[in-house]
Amino acid sequence: MAEYKIPEQFLWGGAISANQTEGAFLEDGKGMSAVDILPAGKARAQAIFHPAEAMHTVYDYYPSHEAIDFYHHYKEDIKMLAEMGIKVFRTSISWSRIFPNGDDTCANEKGLQFYDDLFDTCLKYGIEILVTMNHFDTPLALIKKYGGWKDRRVVLCFEKYVRTICKRYKGKVKYWIPLNEINMLMHVPYLGAGLLEEGDALTEKIKYQTAHHQLVASALAAKIAREEDPGCKIGCMLAAGSIYPYSCKPDDVLAALENEHESYFFIDVQSRGYYPSYAKAMFRRKDIEIHMERGDELLLRENTVDFIAFSYYSSRCAAAADGDAGEKAEGNAFLGVKNPYLETSDWGWQIDAKGLRITMHQLYDRYQKPLFIIENGLGAADTLTDDGKIEDDYRIAYHEAHIREMTQAMSEGVELLGYTTWGCIDLISSGSGEMKKRYGFIYVDKDNDGKGTLKRYK
Ligand code: BG6
Repeated sequence: MAEYKIPEQFLWGGAISANQTEGAFLEDGKGMSAVDILPAGKARAQAIFHPAEAMHTVYDYYPSHEAIDFYHHYKEDIKMLAEMGIKVFRTSISWSRIFPNGDDTCANEKGLQFYDDLFDTCLKYGIEILVTMNHFDTPLALIKKYGGWKDRRVVLCFEKYVRTICKRYKGKVKYWIPLNEINMLMHVPYLGAGLLEEGDALTEKIKYQTAHHQLVASALAAKIAREEDPGCKIGCMLAAGSIYPYSCKPDDVLAALENEHESYFFIDVQSRGYYPSYAKAMFRRKDIEIHMERGDELLLRENTVDFIAFSYYSSRCAAAADGDAGEKAEGNAFLGVKNPYLETSDWGWQIDAKGLRITMHQLYDRYQKPLFIIENGLGAADTLTDDGKIEDDYRIAYHEAHIREMTQAMSEGVELLGYTTWGCIDLISSGSGEMKKRYGFIYVDKDNDGKGTLKRYK
């Protein structure tokens, strides 16, 4: 049998986000964003789920304020990544660097110039650019003024921001993702959508109305990006990971299916262009009425995505509420049931390379559109040796296993555009704000308290 070969044009690359790397949080006219009020460590989880309180709390240390100072180091960082041979670089544009308050009349020229310089640096090395328009950093002023994305006016602000960046970077940015991990809105509503409600006040109605706004925003972004640059490609992005039933008990299988619907709901709309019937039935059952404006349905229908991007850290496992599955598993903001067959990382995230292959098949079967793995990686505590080396064999093993399964899925017929590893250069953790939880091929000298020289090591 002929051995399968990954096509020459396959996009190997690395991914970061603005809010976890750039720092320079108020430099050159940037405004505050959602993450700029978040501390590190245990207090961060508390703040993410009680954001209204966090807004009025003063913490000792805010990791996003300096992060790895990518804002001032990007030339050196991109050069190193180019030396690694990456072909695509994923980052996000910080909305509040372009519109400091989210709804300013004019865009901040210095912010726009920064991304011009960054993108030109990538292009100089022949690196394609993949941009997330909003990666967990809604401008703080919009959160204070409107309570985040639950208010339709935020969509109008986003539309203007999108028009500005698509016009400015046409011909430079080839791949656009409107919103990072759109389904995360259900799990981390402050990060995903700037929602300040918590507990009983955070109703499903609010979450799904917010989801509608983000879906409309995403369709608008697809429309605008294509108008400005017909050669670009638009993707949706799912925080993915197949959901296995804990057992073959029908109730567990049903629980897994329900969990899947909750995740797929978003990209079903973005990919197919209409609300799925299971969602409409759920809204009726729960008496949730989504307020739509005239033209929304047409907009969704006419502006679907070209490809399905996703992050993959692990599969998940679901059990019926009254079932016999015990322990909960840690994971990327999802609290599933622990899968007894899987190992875990130092942060308790389960590791399932084969699950990537399964996830790829399920997504491709469902959408029949090219996929793009834009996050995958192992968060681990690396140590720098006295002679300036990092012996991260565990990370090499992780990627090797995942790439093997990925290649297998491709050989089995799944169309995949590329693979960008998460945190190709060390960055601050989104969930915990730690530096210690590293993903990178390039080590950055900085610790959990923000101390260090910021020197980079290959
Ligand atoms: C993804 C996010 O959900 O998970 C990233 O898109 C994040 O921003 C990544 O960094 C890993 O999570 P963590 O908490 O280890 O940074």
